[in-house]
Amino acid sequence: MGYLRVLELYSGIGGMHYALKESGIPAQVVAAIDINTTANQIYKHNFPDTPLWNKTIEGITLDDFNKLSFDMIMMSPPCQPFTRIGLQGDIADNRTKSFLYILDILPRLCKLPRFIVLENVKGFEKSSARTLLIKTLIDCGYTFQEVMVSPTSVGIPNSRLRYFLIALISAENLSTQTSSKTFDAFPHLDESESPLHPSFLSPTCISTGLPEEEIHSGLVLYKRESRMDAQRKMNQNHDLSVRQIQDFLEPQREENMERYLLSPKTLLRYGLLLDIVQPKCRRSVCFTKGYGRYVEGTGSVLQCCMETEIDSVFTGLDQLSEEEKLQQLLKLKLRYFSPREVANLMGFPQHFSFPENISTIQQYRVLGNSLNVLVVTKLLQLLLSSRPGHSAGDEDSAVGCSSSFCG
Ligand SMILES: C[S@@+](CC[C@H](N)C(=O)[O-])C[C@H]1O[C@@H](n2cnc3c(N)ncnc32)[C@H](O)[C@@H]1O
Repeated sequence: MGYLRVLELYSGIGGMHYALKESGIPAQVVAAIDINTTANQIYKHNFPDTPLWNKTIEGITLDDFNKLSFDMIMMSPPCQPFTRIGLQGDIADNRTKSFLYILDILPRLCKLPRFIVLENVKGFEKSSARTLLIKTLIDCGYTFQEVMVSPTSVGIPNSRLRYFLIALISAENLSTQTSSKTFDAFPHLDESESPLHPSFLSPTCISTGLPEEEIHSGLVLYKRESRMDAQRKMNQNHDLSVRQIQDFLEPQREENMERYLLSPKTLLRYGLLLDIVQPKCRRSVCFTKGYGRYVEGTGSVLQCCMETEIDSVFTGLDQLSEEEKLQQLLKLKLRYFSPREVANLMGFPQHFSFPENISTIQQYRVLGNSLNVLVVTKLLQLLLSSRPGHSAGDEDSAVGCSSSFCG
Protein backbone atom coordinates (compact mmCIF):
# COMPACT_ATOMS: atom_id res chain seq x y z
CA MET A 1 0.00 0.00 0.00
CA GLY A 2 1.34 3.46 -0.91
CA TYR A 3 0.94 6.60 1.17
CA LEU A 4 -2.67 7.17 2.20
CA ARG A 5 -4.03 10.63 1.51
CA VAL A 6 -5.92 11.65 4.63
CA LEU A 7 -8.47 14.43 5.14
CA GLU A 8 -8.69 15.58 8.77
CA LEU A 9 -11.99 17.37 9.42
CA TYR A 10 -12.61 19.33 12.65
CA SER A 11 -8.87 18.98 13.21
CA GLY A 12 -8.63 20.97 16.48
CA ILE A 13 -5.14 20.48 17.91
CA GLY A 14 -4.52 17.43 15.77
CA GLY A 15 -5.38 14.50 18.03
CA MET A 16 -6.34 12.44 14.98
CA HIS A 17 -3.15 13.44 13.16
CA TYR A 18 -1.02 12.28 16.11
CA ALA A 19 -2.92 8.98 16.19
CA LEU A 20 -2.22 8.51 12.50
CA LYS A 21 1.48 9.14 13.05
CA GLU A 22 1.65 6.88 16.09
CA SER A 23 -0.13 4.08 14.19
CA GLY A 24 2.83 3.76 11.83
CA ILE A 25 0.49 3.78 8.81
CA PRO A 26 2.24 5.37 5.83
CA ALA A 27 0.04 8.40 5.35
CA GLN A 28 -0.04 12.11 4.70
CA VAL A 29 -2.68 14.56 5.89
CA VAL A 30 -3.52 16.41 2.67
CA ALA A 31 -5.75 18.96 4.45
CA ALA A 32 -6.78 19.71 8.02
CA ILE A 33 -9.88 21.87 8.44
CA ASP A 34 -11.06 23.83 11.48
CA ILE A 35 -12.43 27.26 12.32
CA ASN A 36 -11.01 27.65 15.82
CA THR A 37 -8.11 30.08 15.56
CA THR A 38 -6.49 29.03 18.86
CA ALA A 39 -6.65 25.35 17.96
CA ASN A 40 -5.36 26.16 14.48
CA GLN A 41 -2.38 28.03 15.90
CA ILE A 42 -1.47 25.00 18.00
CA TYR A 43 -2.01 22.67 15.05
CA LYS A 44 0.24 24.78 12.82
CA HIS A 45 2.90 24.92 15.56
CA ASN A 46 3.05 21.11 15.68
CA PHE A 47 2.36 20.31 12.02
CA PRO A 48 3.90 23.23 10.11
CA ASP A 49 3.94 21.32 6.82
CA THR A 50 0.29 20.25 6.80
CA PRO A 51 -2.10 22.39 4.74
CA LEU A 52 -4.48 23.84 7.33
CA TRP A 53 -7.70 25.40 6.09
CA ASN A 54 -9.24 27.94 8.43
CA LYS A 55 -12.68 27.53 6.84
CA THR A 56 -16.12 26.23 7.71
CA ILE A 57 -16.54 22.75 6.33
CA GLU A 58 -19.91 23.62 4.83
CA GLY A 59 -18.20 26.39 2.88
CA ILE A 60 -16.00 23.93 0.99
CA THR A 61 -17.28 22.85 -2.42
CA LEU A 62 -17.62 19.35 -3.77
CA ASP A 63 -15.08 20.32 -6.38
CA ASP A 64 -12.56 21.34 -3.70
CA PHE A 65 -13.07 18.04 -1.90
CA ASN A 66 -12.65 16.10 -5.14
CA LYS A 67 -9.38 17.87 -5.84
CA LEU A 68 -7.96 16.62 -2.55
CA SER A 69 -8.46 13.04 -3.76
CA PHE A 70 -8.29 11.52 -0.27
CA ASP A 71 -8.33 7.87 0.77
CA MET A 72 -9.38 8.42 4.36
CA ILE A 73 -11.50 10.85 6.39
CA MET A 74 -10.77 11.30 10.10
CA MET A 75 -13.23 13.49 11.96
CA SER A 76 -14.53 14.56 15.38
CA PRO A 77 -17.66 16.59 14.66
CA PRO A 78 -18.82 19.07 17.34
CA CYS A 79 -20.22 17.12 20.26
CA GLN A 80 -22.38 19.75 22.03
CA PRO A 81 -25.56 18.73 20.15
CA PHE A 82 -25.27 15.22 21.62
CA THR A 83 -23.95 15.64 25.16
CA ARG A 84 -26.06 14.63 28.12
CA ILE A 85 -25.68 18.04 29.76
CA GLY A 86 -26.40 19.94 26.55
CA LEU A 87 -29.81 20.57 25.00
CA GLN A 88 -29.36 17.54 22.73
CA GLY A 89 -30.47 19.52 19.69
CA ASP A 90 -29.05 16.74 17.52
CA ILE A 91 -29.65 17.45 13.81
CA ALA A 92 -31.73 20.55 14.63
CA ASP A 93 -28.66 22.14 16.25
CA ASN A 94 -26.81 24.54 13.97
CA ARG A 95 -23.53 22.97 15.00
CA THR A 96 -24.54 19.72 13.24
CA LYS A 97 -24.99 21.53 9.92
CA SER A 98 -21.43 20.90 8.75
CA PHE A 99 -21.70 17.19 9.58
CA LEU A 100 -24.94 16.90 7.59
CA TYR A 101 -23.13 18.63 4.75
CA ILE A 102 -20.38 15.97 4.85
CA LEU A 103 -23.03 13.23 4.70
CA ASP A 104 -24.55 14.96 1.71
CA ILE A 105 -21.18 15.33 -0.06
CA LEU A 106 -19.87 11.81 0.61
CA PRO A 107 -21.98 9.86 -1.94
CA ARG A 108 -21.30 12.52 -4.57
CA LEU A 109 -17.50 12.37 -4.39
CA CYS A 110 -15.77 11.19 -7.58
CA LYS A 111 -13.87 8.67 -5.47
CA LEU A 112 -15.18 7.39 -2.16
CA PRO A 113 -12.54 7.35 0.60
CA ARG A 114 -11.59 3.79 1.51
CA PHE A 115 -11.54 4.50 5.24
CA ILE A 116 -13.51 6.67 7.66
CA VAL A 117 -12.81 7.24 11.33
CA LEU A 118 -15.22 9.23 13.47
CA GLU A 119 -15.18 10.14 17.15
CA ASN A 120 -17.94 11.66 19.22
CA VAL A 121 -19.35 11.76 22.73
CA LYS A 122 -21.46 9.20 24.51
CA GLY A 123 -24.97 10.12 23.42
CA PHE A 124 -24.12 10.29 19.71
CA GLU A 125 -25.01 6.59 19.38
CA LYS A 126 -28.66 7.42 20.10
CA SER A 127 -28.85 10.46 17.84
CA SER A 128 -30.59 11.01 14.51
CA ALA A 129 -27.20 12.23 13.23
CA ARG A 130 -25.84 8.73 13.83
CA THR A 131 -28.87 7.19 12.06
CA LEU A 132 -28.19 9.37 9.03
CA LEU A 133 -24.49 8.53 9.14
CA ILE A 134 -25.22 4.80 9.15
CA LYS A 135 -27.73 5.13 6.32
CA THR A 136 -25.20 7.05 4.24
CA LEU A 137 -22.46 4.48 4.90
CA ILE A 138 -24.77 1.61 3.96
CA ASP A 139 -25.89 3.37 0.80
CA CYS A 140 -22.26 3.95 -0.16
CA GLY A 141 -21.30 0.33 0.50
CA TYR A 142 -19.15 0.63 3.61
CA THR A 143 -18.67 -2.00 6.25
CA PHE A 144 -18.31 -0.46 9.64
CA GLN A 145 -17.95 -1.03 13.35
CA GLU A 146 -19.06 1.15 16.23
CA VAL A 147 -17.62 0.95 19.73
CA MET A 148 -17.71 2.87 22.95
CA VAL A 149 -14.18 3.02 24.33
CA SER A 150 -12.51 4.61 27.33
CA PRO A 151 -8.70 5.03 27.63
CA THR A 152 -8.74 2.74 30.67
CA SER A 153 -9.24 -0.05 28.11
CA VAL A 154 -5.77 0.62 26.75
CA GLY A 155 -4.13 0.96 30.16
CA ILE A 156 -4.40 4.73 30.62
CA PRO A 157 -5.72 5.83 34.04
CA ASN A 158 -8.25 8.28 32.65
CA SER A 159 -11.95 7.87 31.89
CA ARG A 160 -13.12 9.36 28.64
CA LEU A 161 -15.87 7.17 27.29
CA ARG A 162 -16.39 8.03 23.64
CA TYR A 163 -18.23 6.77 20.58
CA PHE A 164 -16.01 5.65 17.69
CA LEU A 165 -16.90 4.48 14.24
CA ILE A 166 -14.44 2.93 11.83
CA ALA A 167 -15.61 2.22 8.31
CA LEU A 168 -14.07 0.46 5.36
CA ILE A 169 -15.30 0.49 1.81
CA SER A 170 -16.12 -2.93 0.40
CA ALA A 171 -13.63 -3.85 -2.30
CA GLU A 172 -16.16 -3.96 -5.13
CA ASN A 173 -17.42 -0.50 -4.24
CA LEU A 174 -14.12 1.25 -4.68
CA SER A 175 -15.08 2.00 -8.26
CA THR A 176 -18.77 1.21 -8.61
CA GLN A 177 -20.19 2.71 -5.37
CA THR A 178 -23.37 0.64 -5.67
CA SER A 179 -23.47 -2.35 -3.34
CA SER A 180 -24.60 -2.08 0.27
CA LYS A 181 -22.88 -5.09 1.81
CA THR A 182 -22.43 -4.19 5.47
CA PHE A 183 -22.19 -5.51 8.91
CA ASP A 184 -23.01 -3.81 12.14
CA ALA A 185 -22.24 -5.18 15.54
CA PHE A 186 -22.61 -2.21 17.77
CA PRO A 187 -22.23 -3.01 21.42
CA HIS A 188 -24.19 -0.33 23.23
CA LEU A 189 -21.80 -0.13 26.10
CA ASP A 190 -21.72 1.47 29.40
CA GLU A 191 -18.33 1.98 30.99
CA SER A 192 -19.31 -0.30 33.83
CA GLU A 193 -20.36 -3.11 31.54
CA SER A 194 -18.09 -5.84 30.34
CA PRO A 195 -17.90 -4.84 26.69
CA LEU A 196 -17.93 -6.67 23.44
CA HIS A 197 -14.76 -4.88 22.56
CA PRO A 198 -12.13 -5.02 19.86
CA SER A 199 -9.36 -7.43 20.71
CA PHE A 200 -6.85 -4.74 21.70
CA LEU A 201 -9.08 -3.51 24.48
CA SER A 202 -9.00 -4.93 27.94
CA PRO A 203 -12.31 -5.03 29.79
CA THR A 204 -13.17 -1.61 31.17
CA CYS A 205 -14.19 -2.90 34.54
CA ILE A 206 -12.11 -5.68 36.00
CA SER A 207 -12.92 -7.48 39.19
CA THR A 208 -10.42 -6.73 41.91
CA GLY A 209 -10.47 -10.24 43.26
CA LEU A 210 -10.90 -8.85 46.76
CA PRO A 211 -13.69 -10.12 48.97
CA GLU A 212 -16.62 -7.71 49.25
CA GLU A 213 -16.17 -7.05 53.00
CA GLU A 214 -12.53 -6.22 52.50
CA ILE A 215 -13.39 -3.62 49.91
CA HIS A 216 -16.19 -2.18 52.02
CA SER A 217 -14.02 -1.91 55.08
CA GLY A 218 -11.79 0.55 53.22
CA LEU A 219 -14.70 2.76 52.26
CA VAL A 220 -15.09 6.06 54.07
CA LEU A 221 -17.92 8.15 52.67
CA TYR A 222 -16.69 11.55 53.73
CA LYS A 223 -17.48 13.30 50.51
CA ARG A 224 -20.58 13.90 48.45
CA GLU A 225 -20.32 10.70 46.54
CA SER A 226 -22.47 7.60 46.63
CA ARG A 227 -21.27 4.30 48.04
CA MET A 228 -21.37 2.96 44.49
CA ASP A 229 -19.08 5.73 43.23
CA ALA A 230 -16.62 5.14 46.05
CA GLN A 231 -16.70 1.41 45.38
CA ARG A 232 -16.13 1.90 41.66
CA LYS A 233 -13.15 4.16 42.31
CA MET A 234 -11.65 1.63 44.67
CA ASN A 235 -12.11 -1.15 42.09
CA GLN A 236 -10.43 0.98 39.44
CA ASN A 237 -7.43 1.52 41.69
CA HIS A 238 -7.01 -2.23 41.96
CA ASP A 239 -7.07 -2.82 38.21
CA LEU A 240 -3.47 -3.76 37.44
CA SER A 241 -4.06 -3.63 33.68
CA VAL A 242 -4.13 0.16 34.04
CA ARG A 243 -0.98 2.17 34.72
CA GLN A 244 -0.51 4.50 37.67
CA ILE A 245 -1.05 8.24 37.53
CA GLN A 246 2.60 8.80 38.55
CA ASP A 247 3.75 7.54 35.12
CA PHE A 248 2.03 10.55 33.54
CA LEU A 249 3.26 13.32 35.84
CA GLU A 250 5.84 15.90 34.89
CA PRO A 251 9.29 14.99 36.16
CA GLN A 252 9.68 18.49 37.68
CA ARG A 253 10.08 19.15 41.37
CA GLU A 254 6.84 19.93 43.17
CA GLU A 255 7.82 23.55 43.90
CA ASN A 256 7.61 24.20 40.15
CA MET A 257 4.02 23.06 40.29
CA GLU A 258 2.96 25.59 42.94
CA ARG A 259 1.07 27.60 40.35
CA TYR A 260 -1.28 24.68 39.90
CA LEU A 261 -2.28 24.53 43.58
CA LEU A 262 -5.98 24.99 44.30
CA SER A 263 -6.78 28.36 45.83
CA PRO A 264 -8.14 28.58 49.41
CA LYS A 265 -11.43 29.85 48.00
CA THR A 266 -11.79 26.83 45.73
CA LEU A 267 -10.83 24.44 48.53
CA LEU A 268 -13.43 25.88 50.89
CA ARG A 269 -16.18 26.08 48.32
CA TYR A 270 -15.66 22.84 46.43
CA GLY A 271 -13.61 20.67 48.79
CA LEU A 272 -16.32 18.03 49.10
CA LEU A 273 -16.94 17.86 45.37
CA LEU A 274 -13.37 17.36 44.23
CA ASP A 275 -12.31 14.14 42.59
CA ILE A 276 -8.97 13.59 44.32
CA VAL A 277 -6.39 11.13 43.05
CA GLN A 278 -2.94 10.20 44.29
CA PRO A 279 0.14 9.34 42.21
CA LYS A 280 -0.37 5.64 42.87
CA CYS A 281 -4.01 5.67 41.71
CA ARG A 282 -5.00 3.95 38.51
CA ARG A 283 -7.86 6.25 37.61
CA SER A 284 -8.85 9.85 36.98
CA VAL A 285 -12.01 11.40 35.61
CA CYS A 286 -12.37 12.94 32.18
CA PHE A 287 -10.69 16.31 31.69
CA THR A 288 -13.17 18.66 30.06
CA LYS A 289 -12.67 22.03 28.43
CA GLY A 290 -13.68 23.74 31.70
CA TYR A 291 -10.76 22.27 33.67
CA GLY A 292 -8.92 24.91 35.69
CA ARG A 293 -11.91 27.29 35.49
CA TYR A 294 -14.70 25.19 36.97
CA VAL A 295 -14.27 22.50 39.56
CA GLU A 296 -17.23 20.17 39.61
CA GLY A 297 -17.08 17.40 37.03
CA THR A 298 -14.26 18.90 34.95
CA GLY A 299 -11.42 16.57 35.90
CA SER A 300 -9.48 15.12 38.83
CA VAL A 301 -7.07 16.99 41.09
CA LEU A 302 -3.84 15.56 42.46
CA GLN A 303 -2.95 15.08 46.12
CA CYS A 304 0.72 16.04 46.41
CA CYS A 305 1.32 15.59 50.14
CA MET A 306 1.21 11.89 50.88
CA GLU A 307 2.11 12.25 54.57
CA THR A 308 -1.46 13.30 55.30
CA GLU A 309 -4.18 10.66 55.17
CA ILE A 310 -7.07 11.85 53.06
CA ASP A 311 -9.59 10.28 55.45
CA SER A 312 -8.14 12.20 58.39
CA VAL A 313 -8.71 15.47 56.54
CA PHE A 314 -12.30 14.85 55.54
CA THR A 315 -13.63 13.07 58.59
CA GLY A 316 -15.57 15.58 60.68
CA LEU A 317 -14.69 18.43 58.34
CA ASP A 318 -18.27 19.71 58.45
CA GLN A 319 -18.00 20.48 62.15
CA LEU A 320 -14.99 22.78 61.79
CA SER A 321 -14.83 26.55 61.42
CA GLU A 322 -13.94 27.91 57.97
CA GLU A 323 -10.36 28.62 59.04
CA GLU A 324 -9.90 25.14 60.54
CA LYS A 325 -11.45 23.56 57.45
CA LEU A 326 -9.02 25.40 55.24
CA GLN A 327 -6.03 24.37 57.36
CA GLN A 328 -7.15 20.75 57.08
CA LEU A 329 -7.65 20.87 53.30
CA LEU A 330 -4.35 22.67 52.72
CA LYS A 331 -2.54 19.73 54.29
CA LEU A 332 -3.27 17.62 51.21
CA LYS A 333 -1.53 20.07 48.84
CA LEU A 334 -4.11 19.60 46.13
CA ARG A 335 -3.21 20.81 42.67
CA TYR A 336 -4.54 20.70 39.14
CA PHE A 337 -2.80 18.47 36.65
CA SER A 338 -0.68 20.65 34.37
CA PRO A 339 -1.68 20.86 30.68
CA ARG A 340 1.37 18.70 29.87
CA GLU A 341 0.14 16.04 32.29
CA VAL A 342 -3.39 16.19 30.85
CA ALA A 343 -1.83 15.79 27.39
CA ASN A 344 0.13 12.78 28.69
CA LEU A 345 -3.06 11.22 30.02
CA MET A 346 -4.66 11.83 26.64
CA GLY A 347 -1.88 9.94 24.88
CA PHE A 348 -0.22 12.92 23.19
CA PRO A 349 3.44 12.28 22.38
CA GLN A 350 6.20 14.14 24.21
CA HIS A 351 7.03 16.24 21.18
CA PHE A 352 3.53 17.77 21.17
CA SER A 353 3.78 21.33 22.49
CA PHE A 354 1.93 24.63 22.76
CA PRO A 355 3.09 27.93 21.29
CA GLU A 356 4.27 30.27 24.06
CA ASN A 357 1.38 32.72 23.78
CA ILE A 358 -1.31 30.12 24.51
CA SER A 359 -2.50 30.56 28.11
CA THR A 360 -2.92 27.67 30.53
CA ILE A 361 -6.71 28.05 30.43
CA GLN A 362 -6.66 27.94 26.61
CA GLN A 363 -4.49 24.82 26.77
CA TYR A 364 -6.97 23.06 29.05
CA ARG A 365 -9.83 24.15 26.79
CA VAL A 366 -8.40 22.71 23.58
CA LEU A 367 -7.21 19.54 25.30
CA GLY A 368 -10.71 19.06 26.74
CA ASN A 369 -12.09 19.24 23.20
CA SER A 370 -9.61 16.72 21.87
CA LEU A 371 -9.42 12.95 22.11
CA ASN A 372 -7.32 10.13 23.44
CA VAL A 373 -4.58 9.59 20.89
CA LEU A 374 -3.74 6.03 21.97
CA VAL A 375 -7.34 4.83 21.59
CA VAL A 376 -7.55 6.24 18.06
CA THR A 377 -4.10 4.82 17.22
CA LYS A 378 -5.33 1.33 18.11
CA LEU A 379 -8.55 1.78 16.16
CA LEU A 380 -6.63 2.96 13.09
CA GLN A 381 -4.35 -0.06 13.27
CA LEU A 382 -7.38 -2.29 13.57
CA LEU A 383 -9.08 -0.61 10.62
CA LEU A 384 -6.04 -0.84 8.37
CA SER A 385 -5.35 -4.45 9.27
CA SER A 386 -8.91 -5.23 8.16
CA ARG A 387 -8.60 -3.77 4.71
CA PRO A 388 -9.21 -5.96 1.67
CA GLY A 389 -6.05 -7.67 0.53
CA HIS A 390 -4.27 -7.16 3.82
CA SER A 391 -4.46 -10.85 4.77
CA ALA A 392 -6.07 -13.31 2.35
CA GLY A 393 -6.75 -10.53 -0.08
CA ASP A 394 -10.22 -11.54 -1.26
CA GLU A 395 -13.64 -10.08 -0.62
CA ASP A 396 -14.62 -12.66 2.00
CA SER A 397 -11.53 -11.93 3.98
CA ALA A 398 -12.43 -8.22 4.01
CA VAL A 399 -15.70 -8.87 5.74
CA GLY A 400 -14.21 -11.67 7.80
CA CYS A 401 -11.46 -9.45 9.12
CA SER A 402 -13.91 -6.67 9.78
CA SER A 403 -15.85 -8.97 12.01
CA SER A 404 -12.78 -9.24 14.20
CA PHE A 405 -13.58 -5.71 15.34
CA CYS A 406 -16.01 -7.36 17.71
CA GLY A 407 -13.20 -9.05 19.56
C1 LIG B 1 -14.49 18.02 19.10
S1 LIG B 1 -13.48 19.25 18.47
C2 LIG B 1 -12.32 18.31 17.53
C3 LIG B 1 -11.06 18.10 18.25
C4 LIG B 1 -9.94 17.47 17.47
N1 LIG B 1 -10.16 16.13 17.08
C5 LIG B 1 -8.69 17.56 18.33
O1 LIG B 1 -7.95 16.59 18.44
O2 LIG B 1 -8.44 18.62 18.90
C6 LIG B 1 -14.46 19.93 17.20
C7 LIG B 1 -13.76 20.97 16.35
O3 LIG B 1 -14.60 21.29 15.26
C8 LIG B 1 -14.41 22.64 14.93
N2 LIG B 1 -15.59 23.04 14.14
C9 LIG B 1 -16.86 23.14 14.59
N3 LIG B 1 -17.70 23.47 13.58
C10 LIG B 1 -16.93 23.58 12.47
C11 LIG B 1 -17.22 23.88 11.10
N4 LIG B 1 -18.46 24.14 10.72
N5 LIG B 1 -16.21 23.90 10.22
C12 LIG B 1 -14.94 23.64 10.62
N6 LIG B 1 -14.60 23.34 11.89
C13 LIG B 1 -15.58 23.30 12.81
C14 LIG B 1 -14.24 23.34 16.25
O4 LIG B 1 -13.54 24.54 16.10
C15 LIG B 1 -13.48 22.28 17.07
O5 LIG B 1 -12.10 22.53 17.03
